[in-house]
Amino acid sequence: MNTSDFTSNFWDIYIAVILIVSFIGLVWLLVSQSKAAGKAKRDANGQVETMGHEWDGIEEFNNPLPRWWFYLFVITVLFGIAYFILYPGFGSFKGVKGWTSHNQYDAEMKAAQAHYQPLYNKFAGMSIEQMAQDPEAKAVGQNLFNTYCIQCHGSDAKGTKGFPDLTDNDWLWGGDPESIQETIRNGRLGVMQPYGGLDSFPEETARDVAHYVFSLNEDADFKSSRANPERVARGQDIFQNQICFTCHQADGKGLVTLAPDLTDNIWLWGSSEKDVVNTIIKGHTNQMPAWENFLVSKNEDGSEDLSKLRIMTAYVYGLSDHAKDAAPAPAAEPAAAAEPADADSVVVEGDVVKFYFATGSKNLAAGSSDALASIIAGVAEGKKAVISGYHDPTGDAAQNEQLAKERAQAVESALMALGVDPSSIELKKPEVTEGDGTNAQARRVEVTLQ
Ligand code: HEC
Ligand code: HEC
Repeated sequence: MNTSDFTSNFWDIYIAVILIVSFIGLVWLLVSQSKAAGKAKRDANGQVETMGHEWDGIEEFNNPLPRWWFYLFVITVLFGIAYFILYPGFGSFKGVKGWTSHNQYDAEMKAAQAHYQPLYNKFAGMSIEQMAQDPEAKAVGQNLFNTYCIQCHGSDAKGTKGFPDLTDNDWLWGGDPESIQETIRNGRLGVMQPYGGLDSFPEETARDVAHYVFSLNEDADFKSSRANPERVARGQDIFQNQICFTCHQADGKGLVTLAPDLTDNIWLWGSSEKDVVNTIIKGHTNQMPAWENFLVSKNEDGSEDLSKLRIMTAYVYGLSDHAKDAAPAPAAEPAAAAEPADADSVVVEGDVVKFYFATGSKNLAAGSSDALASIIAGVAEGKKAVISGYHDPTGDAAQNEQLAKERAQAVESALMALGVDPSSIELKKPEVTEGDGTNAQARRVEVTLQ
């Protein structure tokens, strides 16, 4: 079977036949009228004949078509014939000019390309940061933003409920040029799963946890006016030990790509008790669409033309002030790993990723996203992520073991929240590290790709 079994040329022929019959009819009409054109039929008295009908004393003279009208008609018919020779329309005949709407579009795109190419060439030599400062790049970026982005992020890019503000330097998915470019090119899906509907999680519990969330807020006025101490006390356990810390982290500051910062008083879904309870009970599934098909095209040699994507990235990058960027601690260099300080940090050493924790902490360090991403890449290659928790020999052994376990679980939940299949994860019993290492060395979770 081939596709022609499914399409028939019946309609092509049908239309061609109608056209031919119409043209024959028109030509006949022309010929039949041409002799008479301009010459009126007169009776014996030289009077113009009437059509022979009469209505309330009004008669119609049998005057011929005026010449100008007749020739206009001839021109129209000739135009019609010429059109069907040059352009598609006559059945399946494509027209001698080979015109298609695609060709026309391509030609227009080529013209636009020729117009913008010198600009694009200039931008190609610039970094995203430089382009973000360049007035011409900003102008083109603003245009692209108005075309593709304002319906969700708003003309001032400040967003609205569910659509993030792009000017505030608070990033769900990262505010460095590579992260922004990745967000725009491939889109992002933000998922906070719903916790309501379970007997073990009634609305009252959600309200308690919401108040605990308020208590984490770094704005003292907000915190004192919102957080009810009794509810905070009841909500703490669920946040810190049961559910929320795995993504939003024990300090509530979240982790780029995993879950938003709940302490910064920037709210994607609203800050009222009702809003936050709603988030906890109903969850959110929030899609930023992928713009690859609109902003990335192919060059003639088949390579990718990223000019538009880069301009768009630079425009978004330029919307916020990146002074704050220096703040989050970057992943520690392996060289510094020998003596981790009493702080959360993360180190990638080949197939082993080491998450270090400050005393008593189970927060993943701010730079963990990249480390988690490298584990996810390993799992995607078919490897297994083996998670082991370690603790130091000082203090209460049972408590240490519990904390080591929770830290390992925090890493496990983070991986699962990022979409890693539980069957690719193996959780090992906590171990005590003794001997050479310092205590800071010992407070760690290791993920080994096997
Ligand atoms: C259909 C609505 C929609 C359109 C159109 C849209 N976005 Fe988004 N965008 C979203 C949503 C929803 C999110 C948040 C996803 C989440 O919750 O994780 C988002 C997130 C983002 C982020 C990440 C913000 C952060 O905090 O990390 C960037 C950057 C972004 N959009 C840029 C753009 C650009 C540039 C365009 C135009 C090319 C665009 N968006 C068009 C809905 C949209
Ligand atoms: C599996 C990871 C995960 C867990 C567990 C989780 N969250 Fe979330 N949470 C998210 C993500 C991701 C978002 C952002 C959703 C989006 O992009 O729209 C979010 C959003 C929120 C928001 C909205 C923030 C804003 O700016 O408006 C609140 C509040 C919140 N979570 C509270 C909680 C609480 C309380 C718990 C525990 C009951 C919890 N989350 C558990 C991942 C998680």
